Amino acid sequence: MGAILPATRALARAMAKTAMHGRSESSIIEIGAGTGRVTEALWRLSNGKIRIRAIEANKDLADRLRRRLPGIEVFSGMFEDAPERMFSGMERATVVSSVPLFSLQDDSRAAFFASLTAGIKRGGVGRYVQYTYWPVLPWEGAKTLCGTDPKLVALNFPPAWIWSQDH
Ligand SMILES: C[S@@+](CC[C@H](N)C(=O)[O-])C[C@H]1O[C@@H](n2cnc3c(N)ncnc32)[C@H](O)[C@@H]1O
Repeated sequence: MGAILPATRALARAMAKTAMHGRSESSIIEIGAGTGRVTEALWRLSNGKIRIRAIEANKDLADRLRRRLPGIEVFSGMFEDAPERMFSGMERATVVSSVPLFSLQDDSRAAFFASLTAGIKRGGVGRYVQYTYWPVLPWEGAKTLCGTDPKLVALNFPPAWIWSQDH
C-alpha cells in the first residue's frame, strides 16, 4: 500500500484546483484518501456541493475520515477490489488519486491500472488526476492514464508534480 505520507495543504489545494478546473460540477472519485487532506480541499473548493466518493485502504483512516467529513461517501478497502462499487452511478467522474504509484507491486499495479482502464472504457472517468514526487511515471503505460505533462507544485516540499489527463 505504501507509506501514508499526508499531502501538504499546498499540494492538496493544487490537486483540488486541477481536479475542478473547468469541471466544477463533476462528481469525484478519490482513491487513497489517507488522512483526508485532498478530500478536505476538494470539499472546501466545491463548497460541499459536489458528490465525492472516496476509498482508503486503511480502515482506521477511512473510519476517521467518515466521521470528520460526513457529507462524503467513504469506503475502506483497495480500489482495485471494488471498482464496481466505486463507479456505480458515476458518469465521467473526476478521479483523484494519491496512491503511491511507485510503491505498487506488479500484481496490484496491473489490477489498479486494469480497473481504471475498464472505468474509462465504460465512460466512468472524465478526468484522471494524480500526484507523484518525481516528474516521471513508474511504468510506460501509465501515460495513457495520467498524461505526459506533469506540473510542478510551486513551493511544495518535498517537490511534487501533478498529472492530469482528460478521458
Ligand atoms: C500518500 S498516502 C495518503 C495521501 C492523502 N492524500 C493524504 O493527504 O493523507 C496514500 C494512501 O493511499 C492508500 N492506498 C494505497 N493504495 C491504495 C489502493 N489501491 N486503494 C485504496 N487506497 C490505497 C494508502 O493506504 C494511503 O493512505
